[in-house]
Amino acid sequence: MKASPVQASKELFGKLSDGTEIHRWSLENGGTRLKVLSYGGIVQSLEIPDTEGRYANVSLGFDTIEAYVAESPYFGALIGRYGNRIGKGRFTLDGTAYQLSVNDGENSLHGGSAGFDKAVWDVEPFTEGTDVGLRLQHTSADGEMGYPGTLRTTVTYTLTEDGDWRIDYEATTDRATVVNLTNHVYWNLAGEGSGSTGGHELEIAASRYTPVDAGLIPDGEPAEVTGTPFDFRTAKTVGADLRVAHQQLLYAKGFDHNWVLDKGVTAEPRHVATLRDPASGRTLRIATTEPGLQFYSGNFLDGTLVGTGGTIHRQGDALCLETQHHPDSPNRPDFPSTVLRPGETYRSTTTHSFHAG
Ligand code: BGC
Repeated sequence: MKASPVQASKELFGKLSDGTEIHRWSLENGGTRLKVLSYGGIVQSLEIPDTEGRYANVSLGFDTIEAYVAESPYFGALIGRYGNRIGKGRFTLDGTAYQLSVNDGENSLHGGSAGFDKAVWDVEPFTEGTDVGLRLQHTSADGEMGYPGTLRTTVTYTLTEDGDWRIDYEATTDRATVVNLTNHVYWNLAGEGSGSTGGHELEIAASRYTPVDAGLIPDGEPAEVTGTPFDFRTAKTVGADLRVAHQQLLYAKGFDHNWVLDKGVTAEPRHVATLRDPASGRTLRIATTEPGLQFYSGNFLDGTLVGTGGTIHRQGDALCLETQHHPDSPNRPDFPSTVLRPGETYRSTTTHSFHAG
């Protein structure tokens, strides 16, 4: 018989400089242990067992709130209002031009200089049937970071009896706007601090990806992956083609691209990617309703950050698999729309399933 879910518990994690208390919530179900901060909805730690039942934290994080505020490259954070880049931080909607906060060269990245990763979320724990979880809520004011509309967002983190971690995103607005929410866990299935993820095996169910310009904004039409380093339709190691002298890998210092997932937007989550560490057997399977997946091979980790395990993180020591709409969609009528209007509800679901074998 499976153990019944344990109600989430909370403790004080630290305080922001203005005195705001930040809590850390701990929850466990089906063999998965999750720790989440009210700051940024950050997954501070995610522990899963290997084939021998040995647990490891497979997600990069910090020990202190100060480190998250000062220097985090979005470790484990909720990303909004717009995950990924919008070219020059500009778009036009219903004839009105908007200028967003620009924080990545001339572009806007992950919602601008103070995105959802830096918001303090209201967190409510719940237990429903065999599920245990957290409901996180945040309201972003009209005009914040340049985005139109008051955006009311609810993100639900659920741990199921099978140990799956499901994320349900919902948002509403009072003016037409654009939304693209995601989560920015940095995975290392050998355990954070174990060194390179180059030996992890990755499969992505996508026949095309979006080539980018030097600022990592999609450039031209999506391209076929066939015969390129971007072909992950059959699992291969992350390191296999990482150093191929391909112009796209030069631009991004590795993989930092958006895969156009076969099937596009779906009503129910469907399988899109598998990541496996052959040494420990730990395996992550991702299913989503989203049309895109940003695979970022940790190119900008440069040995300047010390994680929860007390070691430094160097290039490629973790990787991100971010489910989302394609970058720069507000300027690309040919991409699935990210527009949200009053009366509509933005919905997106991603599940992370774990097993060892
Ligand atoms: C982006 C990278 C960026 C990283 C951390 C990823 O989602 O694709 O270009 O460096 O986030 O900021």
